[in-house]
Amino acid sequence: MDNATETTVTAMPRIGDKAPSFTAVTTQGDIRFPEQYAGDWVILFSHPADFTPVCTSEFMIFAAREEQFEKAGCKLVGLSVDGLYSHIAWLRTIKEKIDYKGMKNIEVKFPLIEDITMNVARLYGMIQPQESATKAVRAVFFIDPKGIIRAIIYYPLSLGRNFDELYRVLIALKTADAFSVATPADWQPGDDVIVPPAGSCGVAQDRMEGKEDMTCHDWFFCTKKIDADAVLGAVIKK
Ligand code: BEZ
Repeated sequence: MDNATETTVTAMPRIGDKAPSFTAVTTQGDIRFPEQYAGDWVILFSHPADFTPVCTSEFMIFAAREEQFEKAGCKLVGLSVDGLYSHIAWLRTIKEKIDYKGMKNIEVKFPLIEDITMNVARLYGMIQPQESATKAVRAVFFIDPKGIIRAIIYYPLSLGRNFDELYRVLIALKTADAFSVATPADWQPGDDVIVPPAGSCGVAQDRMEGKEDMTCHDWFFCTKKIDADAVLGAVIKK
């Protein structure tokens, strides 16, 4: 490749990868990511810019629901390519002035990373130049207690995230781990879960003959019940 066409290519992290490590300055002090979150789930999410309306609505909801995520064993870490003083001023404005959908006096207690160099945003593929070369898209990385990326969701600048869905993804990932199952479309705690596929013709036959405690729509598509209480008991802190 000659100099004129040379570009810096950063591989984007993918599901199953170890979350790339970095240190950063945040509104709650310096962090070492993901190492200092070992043993917890963590959601790392980016937003395009401070003092913008969609981001403000998102931050208010995430802050209002932080305790719910905490009870599910999950910490939150935000990021934008703004500087620390902008972050501090924006979070103070949210707390002191913004009254939105019945939420007011909302204090954002989780760390918000300053990333004016865009180093972290680039490391995580949050800068998507066709959307914006100067702002991070709305990325969400679900990282497990071993520091492995388990799910990634990207939204464009104009689209605020659905926090019920982010919570559902977290609970579904934890449920899959706790019970060695998969979760079907639109799954919610209490809905039937999907058991691993039959590994042999004999097991497939047994399942179709109703010899296992499950419902089979066909030999490759079998579900079983797990009560909402059992799911929540396994994935939510007491
Ligand atoms: C917003 O958060 O409102 C926003 C940020 C960047 C581009 C468009 C909207």
